[in-house]
Amino acid sequence: MANLPSRDILYLAVSHDDHAIVASGALSSCGRVRVRLMNLQRILQERFHNALAGLVDDPAPYVAMLKPAQDAKHGDYQANCAMSMAKILGKSPRDVAQTIVARLQIDDLLDPPQIAGPGFINLRVKSDWLAAQLQTCAADARLGVHLADPKKTLVIDFSSPNVAKPMHVGHLRSTIIGDALARLFRFLGHSVVTDNHLGDWGTQFGMLLYGYKHFRDEEALKADPVREMVRLYVLVRKLGGPAEAVEDAPIRASEFSPEQLANSQNVLRAYRDETAKLHAGDDENVRLWRQFMPWCLAEIDKIYQRLDVHFDHTHGESFYNPMLADVVRSLEERGIARKTQDAIGVFLGEEEKPRALIRKRDGAFTYTTSDLATIKYRIDQWHPDAMLYVVDFRQGFHFKNLFDIARRWGVDNIALEHVSFGSVLGPDGKPIKTSEGGAVSLEELLDESVRHAAKKYAEICKEREDRGEETPNLSPDEVDQINSAVGYGAVKYADLSQNRESDYVFNWDKMLATDGNTATYMQYAYVRNQSILRKAGVDSATLRSRPPLPLLASPYERALTFQLLKFEEALDAAGLDYRPHLITSYLWDLSKVYSGFNHNCHVINAETPELRQSRLLLCDVTARVIQKGLELLGIRTPERM
Ligand code: ARG
Repeated sequence: MANLPSRDILYLAVSHDDHAIVASGALSSCGRVRVRLMNLQRILQERFHNALAGLVDDPAPYVAMLKPAQDAKHGDYQANCAMSMAKILGKSPRDVAQTIVARLQIDDLLDPPQIAGPGFINLRVKSDWLAAQLQTCAADARLGVHLADPKKTLVIDFSSPNVAKPMHVGHLRSTIIGDALARLFRFLGHSVVTDNHLGDWGTQFGMLLYGYKHFRDEEALKADPVREMVRLYVLVRKLGGPAEAVEDAPIRASEFSPEQLANSQNVLRAYRDETAKLHAGDDENVRLWRQFMPWCLAEIDKIYQRLDVHFDHTHGESFYNPMLADVVRSLEERGIARKTQDAIGVFLGEEEKPRALIRKRDGAFTYTTSDLATIKYRIDQWHPDAMLYVVDFRQGFHFKNLFDIARRWGVDNIALEHVSFGSVLGPDGKPIKTSEGGAVSLEELLDESVRHAAKKYAEICKEREDRGEETPNLSPDEVDQINSAVGYGAVKYADLSQNRESDYVFNWDKMLATDGNTATYMQYAYVRNQSILRKAGVDSATLRSRPPLPLLASPYERALTFQLLKFEEALDAAGLDYRPHLITSYLWDLSKVYSGFNHNCHVINAETPELRQSRLLLCDVTARVIQKGLELLGIRTPERM
């Protein structure tokens, strides 16, 4: 499996072998194979594969042409492979379609396939089959989602803030997306190792050390060390700013007076020296670093607690320091690293400029050196099949170089993936900033989310009272729980519902809307469902242990059942490409068919007791799927709101 891109590895990982079909062959009674696989599209593709196997050498590309139907009129799925195969087989597309249909062994699952137009094959799943599947799903704690086989080990590197400064909005996406992926892959049955690769050793600490030595305010430090650290960081950053700016773009030198620039260059040099001394093990700097770290960690832990994000490991860059010299030596021995202008760089080909520096002129190791050590450590410790880095798109270049270097260094048989994402934008369409132009603090943003949620919730309760509707009688503590579930949920969902590579505009009103694709909407859908079940006096344990066979009397019930059975398909798709927005899209589609069902089918007052039970079952499974879907996104579902 060497050098397989990870999407293939994970595809293999989440694909289901045929064991359920094979095993159920033996269970088949009256010629009906009882398939217990919920990824319907994949089952159909497997059947198509068998049917096409004798017709073309490689059925795979044709099998992939089987897709969900665009229009329900044409059935549930459509295969348009006959048109492409016709050219190769030298027959008319309709003839090919007929041949395929004749070879398909699928009547346990589908009504007889229909050939339409030039040779489309329209497929409609048997309602009986859907009902039986849903019954199985309802009795399953995993809602019909299979455990991955083979199980893979994934390391997910996410959040990974630089800790010398408080977390800001820039850390939001990595934290939320990484956590959602970890939850998803765990649920799919993989072994997931989460690792918060803190920036706890970089130049920022040199800045803190320099600031501490020259500008600290003892009183302030005693009173609130974290705040004093932040002040020092900001101050030193400002002092070194001009020199850094000119280093990046020499043309900017004209923006500063020669004196200003010279002073700034002195500061820059000084804090780089502090960093180098820390890395070299200087007693005082290491001691101070040890003193600073707990302050920094306490600050970020507060955020993780609030977001309900947890890590198996928090090996920051400092953890790898003792391994860095060996990494450099090893790369030199392999002939891919050598001296360049008194520094050490990695050269992968004939290029003049190194792909990356791994040791600077002043002796300090780099971000790349530390990342290489990290890769080696993770492989030695956890033997992963894939390593995911959930990091901002701006580091694309770093990861491309890192992965290329790692491959040449001998890292094989493991997928290395940069799971990149775009920016969070402010109302002006530019990366979000405070009104003073600074980074938006994550703590303040979370506070604000709860405030907005509280306001929204109070409004909703008021509207309901005005309409004479009941509102739940909740304790202040329960209301707080709701506000934080809704507030954090809104922020997470707004982020996760975007294709991760896109930028998105941060907008409180939109993300808390009760009538759109938001967490708030989904949480309400869940709560409404729970209240129906409560009103009906359903004992959910009994309903789940002995679920009735649902009656799919109307198109609404059938559509809802069908959508519920696509849960696994959605999770697989989200895992395949690390795209949590495929889970939110699925939930949004589910909520739409659910509201069709709700408007058209009486549940509590159903026409017959059997219909009532059947519909209650549909409500219960819908609620469970919403709850599980949100849980995989790291979002809580209050029982009552
Ligand atoms: N600390 C880095 C930053 O804030 C992100 C680290 C990402 N992970 C990694 N292994 N490089 O930019």
